[in-house]
Amino acid sequence: MSLYPVGIIGTGKYVPERILTNQELEQMVDTNDEWIVTRTGIKERRMAAADQATSDLALHASRQAIEAAGLTAEDIDLIIVATITPDMFFPSTACLLQHKLGAKQAAAFDLSAACSGFIYGLATGSNMVASGMYKHVLVVGAESLSRITDYTDRNTCILFGDGAGAVVLGQVAEGRGFRSFELGADGSGGELLKVEGGGSRVPATEESLASRRHYIHMAGNEVFKFAVRIMGSAAEDALKKAGMSKEDIDLLVPHQANIRIIQSAMNRLNLSEDKAMINLHNYGNMSAASIPVALAEAVEQGRVNEGDCLVLVGFGGGLTWGASVLVW
Ligand code: ACO
Repeated sequence: MSLYPVGIIGTGKYVPERILTNQELEQMVDTNDEWIVTRTGIKERRMAAADQATSDLALHASRQAIEAAGLTAEDIDLIIVATITPDMFFPSTACLLQHKLGAKQAAAFDLSAACSGFIYGLATGSNMVASGMYKHVLVVGAESLSRITDYTDRNTCILFGDGAGAVVLGQVAEGRGFRSFELGADGSGGELLKVEGGGSRVPATEESLASRRHYIHMAGNEVFKFAVRIMGSAAEDALKKAGMSKEDIDLLVPHQANIRIIQSAMNRLNLSEDKAMINLHNYGNMSAASIPVALAEAVEQGRVNEGDCLVLVGFGGGLTWGASVLVW
């Protein structure tokens, strides 16, 4: 049971400057702009510079979110970074970020739930604020997927991009904030989407590098079918838990993996085009960063107003999924 209503009190985002277009990918693998746009909706994506790692992307987004919340880094009690592309195994990216921010009072840890990581992070952080344990929690979704993408594999290299989004969670007025979370996992589908090289099962060796196991491997079609099924049902389950219905939705902020997956979720929820925040044509799939970047852009564009009902929903490797209903 929560003591305090908890919501998002500041948002921020950062994407690296370097743009990788479909036309450039045409020079790298056997693909073409038309195939990529019709099958995925993606036109371009961003790539971190050689000297940028995930904590650097996270830093920019976090500073913006903290400023938007009217706080300083020292006001943050906990930092959660959702990522599958940490700077290194350890220390955690959250600890590296804590130092860069100068958030000296903050506890810090990383959370691994692939593209659902940001929603898992919101659920974790908001419950810590709701219980009174912490006052301000910084939740970040940040990825440098270009570092684990195989640019010789046309099945995957067209999909992914780099970026970071951040929010600050804090107490909000009665009637506002998070109404429900729906989290799920199906570990039996783990094989469908993975990077197995470099871990304790397949340590980094010359052989693991030669067999390209340090890159993302994906059974695209299987993941697609799972995503189409789960996006609609997770959103519906979260609405039910919140005691709300599809008609209440003002804005859907979905994981930005593929326009066809988003459209199928919108059909199931009876939503018109204008009720979804879509930016995947610019950024591709940024895994845990996709939802917070889309949310920050929706706020920037004035698409989120006080009292609006937002549904955030995502799916990803694990397999995992997550949805949340909140009143802005
Ligand atoms: N350019 C041209 N042709 C291609 C390309 C490409 N880039 N990629 C695949 N093809 C070919 C395939 O080889 C196949 O050819 P074939 O029939 O001769 O074998 C054909 O196109 C059709 O392939 P499908 O896999 O059936 O294409 P599909 O319509 O399923 O689209 C896609 C593929 C875009 C990958 C889709 O399956 C998808 O979006 N899946 C979900 C992926 C996803 O969201 N993953 C991320 C999860 S998030 C996380 O946790 C990181």
